[in-house]
Amino acid sequence: MQQGTPRLVCVLCASSYALEDDRVACDCGGLLDVVHDIGLATERGADAWKRLFADRRANPASAGDRSGVWRFRELVLPTLGPAELVTRGEGNTRLYGPELSRKANAWMGTENVSFKHEGENPTGSFKDRGMTAAMSWAKKRGAKTVVCASTGNTSAAVASYGSLAGIPAVILISEKGTALGKVAQSLAYGAKAVMIRGDFDTALRLVMQARDRLGLTVMNSINPIRLEGQKTIIWEALEQLGWDPPDWFVVPGGNLGNAAAFGKALREAVDLGFISRMPRLAIVQAEGANPFYQASQDGWKRRAMKADTLATAIKIGDPVNFDKAVRSVRWTNGIVSQVVEQEFMDAKAAVDSDGVGAEPASCVTAAGIRKLVREGVIGRTDRVVAVLTGNFLKDPDATMDYHGGTLAGIVSTMGNAPVVIDPTVEALEAALASR
Ligand code: F0G
Repeated sequence: MQQGTPRLVCVLCASSYALEDDRVACDCGGLLDVVHDIGLATERGADAWKRLFADRRANPASAGDRSGVWRFRELVLPTLGPAELVTRGEGNTRLYGPELSRKANAWMGTENVSFKHEGENPTGSFKDRGMTAAMSWAKKRGAKTVVCASTGNTSAAVASYGSLAGIPAVILISEKGTALGKVAQSLAYGAKAVMIRGDFDTALRLVMQARDRLGLTVMNSINPIRLEGQKTIIWEALEQLGWDPPDWFVVPGGNLGNAAAFGKALREAVDLGFISRMPRLAIVQAEGANPFYQASQDGWKRRAMKADTLATAIKIGDPVNFDKAVRSVRWTNGIVSQVVEQEFMDAKAAVDSDGVGAEPASCVTAAGIRKLVREGVIGRTDRVVAVLTGNFLKDPDATMDYHGGTLAGIVSTMGNAPVVIDPTVEALEAALASR
């Protein structure tokens, strides 16, 4: 069976465009979805699809088969041939079950939370899953220059995959507060870094204003192709659970690209018969960057805010994927929650203490789960998959300051401060005795 060519369809007015139109928005201003021929896809049968995905992983015959995105390729972007993929074998990330995250589960008051660690992707975040899709398509379409606004992770992914594709990359980042490691990564991978006097929301607006005039192809999550790649986070997690769906998926909400992609992935998984029951989606924001949470409390009235939070990745006040994220909440009987800085920094200490860890923005999920368990929304024994979106090594200053007890406004409840001693056995003995 040959999978048909998907189309771009507006989520607001249902206008439809060819994929080759390379649009990032509808004429009406609405977001666009990549819509697959699900009818055709169902003909193959769920079991045959599942066997195909697993076979490719077990016996890869191509670079695409080795990728945790492209082994699902017919349902990601069927229009690309094997030689057209710009891939680093991204995805295939671990799902750390409760036996490997005991301390985090104890802190959350849960027994059955697993962490899907997207920080294990080549450049250190889930962005690689979206980027392999968007960059492959951009290359096929002859993109001259790729661009993104970024809080850090997207810029590293654009720089890396741009380098692989041989397409010049431009990243727009905030002059202040962008994680140093990510800026370093982007520079080292050869991207042109432009620091703007303004925040992420301002940078993204500038990207959207300048793209036509400057001939730039946008790689932010408003690009619907990117979200097709990110769907595979959910499918791969479901596969790792033997296609027995969890009760909940929990994800941080920033620009709401994952929230959008996860709802679509779950909708398609149900429509294709991959799973027999719809899990619920919980989207968690930091209180200092909570426009989606606020809207959820107010009849989904959309408004922007000035964002401020230690979770730099999700310091976003006007998320572009708002409408798709609302749809995801509706499709999954989902909920939106928020946590304060103290909660997610403690959550980070708990997640890190199991020995793998993640960046602050990723750990709003663990903080959200703890809160939702206390509120009786998530059950203590519910099966939950929390997505850790980024690597431990991002924002190390926040980690060091937390453990050193010097993080402004935060009590280091689980702090583990280093000690400085003179190089004598006695001093070392004293230091160890005070542990
Ligand atoms: N977690 C991490 C580690 C991120 O880098 C981001 C977004 C998010 C969560 C939020 O995801 O936008 O899908 O809701 N980072 C973008 C960037 C904005 O530029 O790296 P979302």
